[in-house]
Amino acid sequence: MQLTKNKEKIYINCIQSIKNTLDNNKLQYISNILFEAFDDWIFCGFYYQEQDELIISEYKANKLPCSPIGLDGVCGTSIVKNKILNIKDVNQFEDHIVCDENSKSELCIPFEINSIKYVLDIDSSRMDAFCAIDKKYLLKIIKEI
Ligand code: SME
Repeated sequence: MQLTKNKEKIYINCIQSIKNTLDNNKLQYISNILFEAFDDWIFCGFYYQEQDELIISEYKANKLPCSPIGLDGVCGTSIVKNKILNIKDVNQFEDHIVCDENSKSELCIPFEINSIKYVLDIDSSRMDAFCAIDKKYLLKIIKEI
């Protein structure tokens, strides 16, 4: 588990790499670099909306993610409400879609690219893994896309 100070340092380093990368596939680069940086993360990736479903885009994960998924899960709710969702305990979210039973908490950040609705989705094996620092830096990272 990373301490708050370490978390900030990790994000600052990741943002530097994201700014400097020559990799054309930004979504894949971001998924990879963040997934490797945080030892409790078990999924880091992007879904995009197509009609009433979400389709997996780039990601890095321990397990194959489910796709397509409905709009009633954490990711879909985040997109539909256009709201960041920080779910401290996924079992408390009634329509949570389980892709990996090791997921304990989840953070979803919605955004748009060329009018396509996306969500950055992160799952942690730790309960209550995400805080204001994650939101702050992940929003900065999304601006780099
Ligand atoms: N838990 C998500 C599904 C996506 S996975 O976590 C990779 C949801 O409830 O929408």
